[in-house]
Amino acid sequence: MSEKAKLTIGDQSWEFDTFVGSEGEKAIDTRKLRSTTGYIAYDDGYGNTGSCKSEISFIDGEKGILRHRGYPVEQLAEKAGFLETAYLIIYGELPTRAQATKFRRLVHDNTEIHVGIESHFDGFPPNSHPMAILAALINSLGCYYPELATNNRQQDLENFDTAAPFLISKVRTLAAMAYRTEMGMPFVYPDPNLLYSQNFLHMMFSTPYQKYEASETITRALDLFLLLHADHEQNCSTSTVRMVASGGANLFASVSAGVSALWGPLHGGANTAVIKMLQAIHKDGDDGTRFIEAAKRKEARLMGFGHRVYKSFDPRAKILGEVCVKVLDELKQEDPLLDIARRLEQAALEDSYFIERNLYPNVDFYSGILLKAIGIPVDMFTVMFAIGRMPGWIANWREIANVKDGRIHRPRQIYTGPGPRDFIPFDER
Ligand code: ACO
Repeated sequence: MSEKAKLTIGDQSWEFDTFVGSEGEKAIDTRKLRSTTGYIAYDDGYGNTGSCKSEISFIDGEKGILRHRGYPVEQLAEKAGFLETAYLIIYGELPTRAQATKFRRLVHDNTEIHVGIESHFDGFPPNSHPMAILAALINSLGCYYPELATNNRQQDLENFDTAAPFLISKVRTLAAMAYRTEMGMPFVYPDPNLLYSQNFLHMMFSTPYQKYEASETITRALDLFLLLHADHEQNCSTSTVRMVASGGANLFASVSAGVSALWGPLHGGANTAVIKMLQAIHKDGDDGTRFIEAAKRKEARLMGFGHRVYKSFDPRAKILGEVCVKVLDELKQEDPLLDIARRLEQAALEDSYFIERNLYPNVDFYSGILLKAIGIPVDMFTVMFAIGRMPGWIANWREIANVKDGRIHRPRQIYTGPGPRDFIPFDER
């Protein structure tokens, strides 16, 4: 028998079941709250609301823990690659050698884009943001492969094993094409002999005269960046994917909504915002001190700091911070922005404003510096995040699609607008 939670309002009381997740997370089952009490739970921003049960990723924000399917992200970062981690996140187990080879082959076999999609790029004006292009074209892909995007749940699930590696591959090709479009440069076709990250860099930076060859350190750093973004529980974009999927939408439509949700500066757009913030601080001749004071007066926000869930440290930030230094060392680059970032981090970690509010660097704090060092332009930072997050979105789509008798996601609201009014004709307004 589970413990009961008792709710008392006035002289009436109700009992609700409670339950505990596999890592001891406690929940009150409020599914019958409104029908039994007439009240809804008001939880602006959903900070106290469990929207689903999930077996994919676990975060303990107080302890700085992130695990995918039980495996700590630190172990995956050290011992696995992006595609292996993607398989784990999507299918629940680390792949055997044979499964890994097959998955990798499916990804490699799907690198090319239907030639019809190429013409879509002509419709975007110069300087179109690659996130807008990516969201639009991922959804459009479904039109070219209708058998993978039927909106018939049974059929979409039957084709899932084809669609998952297909999307992981295509998002990378589309991302590179979006960049080339923004730059007004011709597309570079993928090279199936290259590793996932190498192939991306090749499609981004090769020219008709010179093939871009990424060093092992850069290839591994990019792979690690993608791995560290692969899934992160019920964040804004993943919840969006689940929300869209709950209505029965196909995988392509659902993950395309995830791309749009990711774009915002408080979510995936934060890595871009961090670099812009560091550049502005540098330009102002500030060493970070003035900016920190402005953040404390709420006149500025220290981008890349703070997290809805992590309240001690973000384990991904720790790993990326170290990789960042390695890459800059290999490239013999000295980036003044890294010095400013370090000073900001140090100052914020010692300042009571940040300590009291549990504000620590998040994954985006160093990722921008890393991507900049690799040569990825700022506009592409959030796109890079989207490539990395694709396995998480796919896994969450699959999880919700497999819920028997799953209900459409449909939150309630508390209406605070005007009461009923009589319509006023134009000439009386
Ligand atoms: N700089 C300065 N103050 C901050 C910051 C920050 N980065 N983040 C939060 N605060 C302050 C708030 O002003 C608030 O102060 P108050 O208690 O005096 O009012 C307090 O800390 C709590 O902040 P909330 O906004 O309630 O925190 P919330 O959980 O809603 O927001 C968020 C989390 C959006 C990540 C926020 O910390 C933020 O805006 N950070 C900067 C943007 C960023 O880096 N986003 C990336 C998140 S990670 C990701 O999506 C991959």
